Amino acid sequence: MTKVITYGTYDLLHYGHIKLLERAKALGDYLIVGVTADDFDRKRGKLNVQQTLIERIEAVRATGLADEIIVEEYEGQKIDDIKRFEVDIFTVGSDWVGQFDYLNEFCKVVYLERTQGVSSTELRSRQHEIRIGLVGESRVINKFAHESQYINGIRIVGVCTKAPENLNAALLKLPLVTASYPELLEHVDAVYILSHPSKHYRHIKAALEKKIHVLYESPMALSLAHCKELQTLSRTQDCVLSEGIKTAYSIAYNRLILLAKSGKIGDILSVEAVCTSLQDIDYSDSKSLEHTWNSMTAWAPTALLPVFQLLGTQYTSKQIISKIGNEEMRFDKFSRLHFIYPTATASVLVGKGIKSEGHLIISGTKGYIYVPAPWWKTEYFELRYENPQENRRYFYQLDGEGIRYEILAFARAIDKKQHHNIASNISEGIVQIMEAFVQRKDCLSLDN
Ligand code: CTP
Repeated sequence: MTKVITYGTYDLLHYGHIKLLERAKALGDYLIVGVTADDFDRKRGKLNVQQTLIERIEAVRATGLADEIIVEEYEGQKIDDIKRFEVDIFTVGSDWVGQFDYLNEFCKVVYLERTQGVSSTELRSRQHEIRIGLVGESRVINKFAHESQYINGIRIVGVCTKAPENLNAALLKLPLVTASYPELLEHVDAVYILSHPSKHYRHIKAALEKKIHVLYESPMALSLAHCKELQTLSRTQDCVLSEGIKTAYSIAYNRLILLAKSGKIGDILSVEAVCTSLQDIDYSDSKSLEHTWNSMTAWAPTALLPVFQLLGTQYTSKQIISKIGNEEMRFDKFSRLHFIYPTATASVLVGKGIKSEGHLIISGTKGYIYVPAPWWKTEYFELRYENPQENRRYFYQLDGEGIRYEILAFARAIDKKQHHNIASNISEGIVQIMEAFVQRKDCLSLDN
């Protein structure tokens, strides 16, 4: 009996897949089909596979061509499978020519001509494309546009900015580059808002009123009343309102939060998060500070995320200690935030005029989680105990600093009309801190 094996994702199973499976089957007597697991696809950079593993397996099964279906979960598995199932022929489409020649050592390798004119990528992008507009002056907009290329089903169609000099060549070539926000809103289904935080409320409101979905770089607004108004508006307009904190979308970060919550380090007693990035800022130039994010808005949403996700937002008291660089603009060189909860404490340090070790430490009654700097681009963390032999290390690949996953989650939320990742009480908690800072409530300023 000749055994044949082939692998694929088989997302939105199409004619090209069926043709391939038919020819693979014809190469022998018994066909094994390996369907890639979701995690494995993500590692290979196939981010927005639309169907779940179960759905994809069912689709392959329904063709009636596979005698056996297996799941491909790790790199190098093909060799294991070929040996285990005593496979005679390995085959894939001609888009892979040469890439599996190394398997010749274990069985015969056959590349079959790929069917022209059809692919899962193309089918995915045909499903109602979301037109996205970008808003803001920061260069991060270029990064966002770059990362969005990895996601099918969305297209950046325009930018609204007062600083076109910060746009790269690709963005300058877009059909719409304008200083008029209403004009941008006429041409899009969704916006990514990276304007100065003082404009977020106005920009988000205008978008939602036109039933345009919003992904905003946190914070949502600078007052709780504005935040609640926007949340209500997003519900009545049936629009997605997504908090953009890229760390929240990193796999490693999510895993460490789950581990902490599942009691691996006992009861959580303390969270300590530091986020700093030294920048050359002229604190006497109020005009230029108008466009610059202060330390609080630039970093506190990220630093507060693990605090609020682990300890909640119902702290009994807080204190914000800042060194203010420009009083009129409420621009802090750095701020330290202390939170007291009934059974725990938290401390956060954020700054653009200070340099420190950007780590995250979550301490519990049995051990602690340590995430080295820069923890907000988390790929790696450790679980540490009194007895070092019990320590564990975790590594999860992070592509595109998390921005890619953030865009993907946003696109999915729009598609499935579902809200996601960051709970609304956390968005509110972040805005409350911004409001306290602006109103100097529970705040203390150090001398300059
Ligand atoms: N295949 C094919 N002809 C096509 C598309 C796919 O012969 N038009 C083959 C591939 O070469 C592979 C198998 O079908 O051997 C599974 O491919 P998969 O990667 O799941 O499908 P694609 O449509 O290529 O998916 P994507 O666009 O996401 O790369």
